[in-house]
Amino acid sequence: MSIKDKKYEARIQKYFSKYPDKRSAVMALLYVAQEEYGWVSPEGIAEVAELCEMDPTQVKSIAGFYTMYSEKPKGKYWLQVCTDLPCALKGADEFHKELKEYLGIGEGETTEDGLFTVEHVMCLAACDKAPMLQCNFHYMENLDMEKMKAFIEEKRAEIEQEASRK
Ligand code: FES
Repeated sequence: MSIKDKKYEARIQKYFSKYPDKRSAVMALLYVAQEEYGWVSPEGIAEVAELCEMDPTQVKSIAGFYTMYSEKPKGKYWLQVCTDLPCALKGADEFHKELKEYLGIGEGETTEDGLFTVEHVMCLAACDKAPMLQCNFHYMENLDMEKMKAFIEEKRAEIEQEASRK
């Protein structure tokens, strides 16, 4: 497990080719690290720092500043529910609460099977589609708990099928 693996080589070189110096690609490489490790882990920080020729402390401070980087392990599906005012007016708070209850977790927690993490976030600029969330940065809009239960059970079934094939 490393972002220095062959599978990322072309992508990382493409990022570097866009910028005048390697350090300018740090945010793009942090995404690669998050994809590889599921979060911006200490190993990921060290690798990004080495590739961008930066101090790991600088890389860590950048990762800590932006909410799209996770500094702790997340579930396979990172559900970020917008509970900002316009969404709250369309039932986002209740939706967020019911989602956590259905999964049996609290704010920012991950289900025991490691599949789902739920967090609330501020406006994601899809206010007219509330309740909405982003799952691993893909928007899911006009939600209700029936849709979410179907999504959650579908993902659980996929994981069970994958496990039974091994
Ligand atoms: S307030 Fe929720 S997307 Fe804007």
